[in-house]
Amino acid sequence: MDRLAIQGGTPLSGEVRISGAKNAALPILCASLLTADTLTLSNVPRLHDVTTAIKLLEQIGVRISTRSSGADTTIELSGRDVENLVAPYEMVKTMRAAILVLGPMLARFGEASVSLPGGCAIGLRPVDLHIRGLQAMGAEIAIEHGYIHARAKRLRGARIVMDLVSVTGTENLMMAATLADGVTLIENAAREPEVVDLAKCLIAMGAKISGAGSDAVHIVGVANLHGASYRIMPDRIESGTFLVAAAATGGAVTLVNTRSGMLDAVLDKLLDAGAKIESGEDWIRLRKNGPLRAVNLRTAPYPAFPTDMQAQFMALNCMAAGTAIMTETIFENRFMHVQELRRLGADIEVEGNTAVIKGVAQLDGARVMATDLRASASLVIAGLMANGETTIDRIYHLDRGYEHIEDKLSQLGANIRRVH
Ligand code: UD1
Repeated sequence: MDRLAIQGGTPLSGEVRISGAKNAALPILCASLLTADTLTLSNVPRLHDVTTAIKLLEQIGVRISTRSSGADTTIELSGRDVENLVAPYEMVKTMRAAILVLGPMLARFGEASVSLPGGCAIGLRPVDLHIRGLQAMGAEIAIEHGYIHARAKRLRGARIVMDLVSVTGTENLMMAATLADGVTLIENAAREPEVVDLAKCLIAMGAKISGAGSDAVHIVGVANLHGASYRIMPDRIESGTFLVAAAATGGAVTLVNTRSGMLDAVLDKLLDAGAKIESGEDWIRLRKNGPLRAVNLRTAPYPAFPTDMQAQFMALNCMAAGTAIMTETIFENRFMHVQELRRLGADIEVEGNTAVIKGVAQLDGARVMATDLRASASLVIAGLMANGETTIDRIYHLDRGYEHIEDKLSQLGANIRRVH
């Protein structure tokens, strides 16, 4: 298994290109199931989760071809010969987002079988909201042998009030509703930019959607969707991760191929930490000199502070002046990085869903273990700040969601290498 070895202490400096967004690419790849025509996607990130999604779609019968030019990867997907309406356990257990094939397969073909995802490291993460929404649209759903079996001759539009704000839940139901008979209204919908990106792609495919990005999404079902070309939005979490790494190491970094408007809550916290930030249409520049200040934060659905950036800010707070209070409201077990950060000398106490971090003058390199995707990113940032060498085991978590993170960090001057 691969490891990352990091020699800490170098401020990051230079320019880095941000990849396409994982959490937009995954639902948009699944949208290819909604049409027999070809969907052409550019700015697709080269990530393990994307490879898993491609394998799953190929198994279902989507024909896929990939071409790269420079840093940009384009994928063509044709859902003309789909025949195997199953998402097996082996796929769904490695990537929960595989649940996103359920809505499209059911809407276009009238049936689908998708494995239940089971638990995952950061919390229970059920899919009851996806199931209840599809039932409200007239689907018959049976749970047997660990699989969701769904049937509906044609889904009907419905008014669906989501109990909790769910990103993939909103996306699954929005995709299903594009081909339903009549009008669907999803209330208490997720407002994440990735939901908007999916809606834009669906609209390019002929869907009638309004309100994406607000908490009420309105979809008028159509008989068919057609092919389209669509460019995936930049990854706001990768952007945020590099900005935190730059601030935490006292560096100066420019991100290109990104957008600042989707990062307001994160940029506000970086300003609180003492960073200077400038931005243009597709770039963000961060400079940091002088001491870091501790920042309090509370995760919540967009546009509030994202849970996917909580771990990275915890790493920054480990060496900031003062005490930070961080509250995680989305996932019940998303503090697994705390034990590992403590191995580097961090002073963190956890009480329920709140962590109290007292800044220390120095972290010291140690061997640590990645436990989930964003926790891994926090260990990389802590390793970049620490004295001496930090080795991170189990970095397959990192490869699920960051494209060539060690190459991009090396380009910014970090002393980091992958050990096979
Ligand atoms: C998505 C993101 C993930 C991010 C998360 C929260 C993708 C592929 N993944 O995950 O990176 O951390 O949003 O911003 O986009 N819940 C239920 N029942 C359901 C669905 C969700 O109780 O049917 C709960 C979850 O357990 C969690 C909360 O709702 O506590 C939010 O989860 P959700 O927004 O659904 O997360 P994902 O869409 O899986």
